[in-house]
Amino acid sequence: MSTIKSINRHQPLSVGEVSRRSGVAVSALHFYEQKGLIHSWRTNGNQRRYHRDILRRIAVIKVAQRLGIPLSDIAGALETLPEGRTVTAEDWQQLSNRWRADLDDRIDKLTRLRDQLTDCIGCGCLSVEACRLRNPSDTLGENGSGPRLLDPDESPPVKR
Ligand code: FES
Repeated sequence: MSTIKSINRHQPLSVGEVSRRSGVAVSALHFYEQKGLIHSWRTNGNQRRYHRDILRRIAVIKVAQRLGIPLSDIAGALETLPEGRTVTAEDWQQLSNRWRADLDDRIDKLTRLRDQLTDCIGCGCLSVEACRLRNPSDTLGENGSGPRLLDPDESPPVKR
């Protein structure tokens, strides 16, 4: 019995087995592979095979996608992990801390955008001078209207 378990634990998985066990469609697995998120090798019969640690990697990918992490960032994070071994609890701790900070940053940005949009509700001016959503980084606008850089005698120094 223990012999069968140890053989199964090291036996590679086919793409169908990975799909069934992870709940991810075969087409999505192929897409992940194209993007460098997961890796396989080919048998003599040209069939894909995966190490069993792929299941935890896919779990990490799915969680990261739910958090809105771009696939390129997920791929970069997974590259920091050794290939061929299971994603450990320590690995997950590092990745989740990193993505928590990213999520906090996006929440801050979205909160600011929501507050700016609240100012716009009922306005409708969409003015370059007045609307922070229309012109979010208007540093020259603080010095007055018009072509401030074309008439240096009229323009006070730009605040940076
Ligand atoms: S639409 Fe008027 S302030 Fe944004």
